[in-house]
Amino acid sequence: MSSLFSKSSLFRTKSVQAICDEAESGSHTFTRRLTTFDLVILGVGAVVGAGIFVLTGTAAATKAGPAVVLSFLLSGVGCALAAFCYAELASTIPIAGSAYSYAYASLGEFVAWLIGWDLILEYIVAACTVAIGWSGYFVKWLEGYGVMLPQAWTHGALDGGVFNVPAVGIIALVTVLLVMGVKESAWLTGLLVVLKLSIIFVFLYLGIPWVKPENWSPFFPYGVWGVVSGAGVIFFAYIGFDAITTTSEETLDPPRTLPRGILGSLGICTILYIAVALVLTGMVPYTELNHPAPVALALEMVGIPWGMQLVSIGAVLGLASVLIVMLLAQPRIFFAMSRDGLISPWIAKVHPTLHTPYRATLITGIIVMVLAGLLPISASGEMTSIGTLFAFMIVCVGVIILRVTEPNIPRGFRAPWSPYLPALGALVCFVMMCGLEAATWIRFVGWMAIGMVIYFRFGRRHSRLNSP
Ligand code: ALA
Repeated sequence: MSSLFSKSSLFRTKSVQAICDEAESGSHTFTRRLTTFDLVILGVGAVVGAGIFVLTGTAAATKAGPAVVLSFLLSGVGCALAAFCYAELASTIPIAGSAYSYAYASLGEFVAWLIGWDLILEYIVAACTVAIGWSGYFVKWLEGYGVMLPQAWTHGALDGGVFNVPAVGIIALVTVLLVMGVKESAWLTGLLVVLKLSIIFVFLYLGIPWVKPENWSPFFPYGVWGVVSGAGVIFFAYIGFDAITTTSEETLDPPRTLPRGILGSLGICTILYIAVALVLTGMVPYTELNHPAPVALALEMVGIPWGMQLVSIGAVLGLASVLIVMLLAQPRIFFAMSRDGLISPWIAKVHPTLHTPYRATLITGIIVMVLAGLLPISASGEMTSIGTLFAFMIVCVGVIILRVTEPNIPRGFRAPWSPYLPALGALVCFVMMCGLEAATWIRFVGWMAIGMVIYFRFGRRHSRLNSP
C-alpha cells in the first residue's frame, strides 16, 4: 500500500513524525492556550446556529414530519462516524490544517491540496451563508423595535439590493476580534454559547407544557425515505465540530483534548437537537412549521408572543458564534497550506505579539465580506454541505490508510472497529452527497477543477515536498 502511494510524486506522503516536527520547529508557531473546555465551547459555538433555528421547521414540514427527530439522530450518527475518525487523526497529527493535514500525511500532496481547496469552499461559503442569515435575523429583530433599515442596504446586489451592510459589518467585527487573539475569541464564543444555550433551554422549558402527543401522529407522514432526505437537510445543523481541529497547534495536550473536544461538542449538540425537535413537533402540527423562524413561531402559536423576540436574540447570538469559529478555521487551513508551499508563504506569517495568523485572517475576512455583501443566501447552503461531506469522507478513508502505512505511530485516540467504522463513515457521507442536487454537484466539480489548475500552475512548482 505504501509503495502504491509513493509511486508518483502526486501521491508521495511525508511521515507523520516529519510533519509534526516541522510544525513544532517552524518559524510560524502559535502559542498553546486552549483547554478541553475551550474546545467544547468552540465546537458547540460552531455547530448550534442556523440549522436548529431555521432548518428544523423546513425539514419537519416538507421532508420528515415529526420523524424529523429520527433525521436528527441519523445525521448525528453519520457525523459521529466521521467525528471518531477526526478524533483519531487529530490526536495523531495535531497540527493546524485539519482534514488537509490528515490527507497530506495519508494520501499525499495532491489529494491534500484538493481537500484544502474543498475546505476553503466549506468554511468561506458557510461563513457567507451564516452572515447573510445573521443579517436577516438582525434586521427582523430591529424591526421588532420599530427600526426599519432600507432593503437596498440589507440585501446583496444579486439579491435585489445593493450591498448587505449588516452582513459585512458582522464579518468585519469578527475578523478584527480574531486578529486580536484566539483566547479572546474563545472567551467571547463562550459567552455567546452560554447565552444561546440558555435561550434553547428557555424554549424547552416554555414549550414542554404545550406538547400534545396527538401532534406526533402520524409520525412518518412521508415514510422512511422522508427521514433519510430530512437527514440530508439537517446535516447543515451539525457542520462545524470539525472546525475545532484547525486549532490543534493552539491546544494544550492535543492527543487528549482534541478527541474530547470533538466528541463532547458533537454529543451535546445531538442531544439538544433531538430535544428541540421533539418539543417543536409536539407543540404545533408539523404542517405549520415551514417558516424561516419555526422555533419562534411555535412559541407565538401557543400564546407566548415575547418568545418570538427572545428566540430572535438567540439566533443572532448563535449565528455570531458560528461565524467566529468558521472565520477562525479558514485562516488556519490557509496557514497549513502555505507552510507546505502550496500557497504563498507570505500568508502564513503569525503576528509577533498577537500570535494569530493575521494576514490569512484578514484575507479570509475580506473574501467573505465581498461574497456576503453581494450574494443571496440560497446559493450557498448546499455548497457548504457537499464541501463538508467530501472532507469527512477523505478523513474516514485517511484513518484506514494511515493504519496500514504508519501502524506504529503513537495515537492518542483510536477510532473503534477500524476499518469497518471508518469505511461505514465514508459510505454514509457518500450516500448523503448523492442526495444533493445536480446543480450543487456541477458547481462543486467546477470549483475543484479550478483548484486543480491552480495546483498544477502554482502549488506543485512551489511545494516544499517537491523541492530538493
Ligand atoms: N451548524 C452551523 C449552523 O447550523 C453551520 O449554523
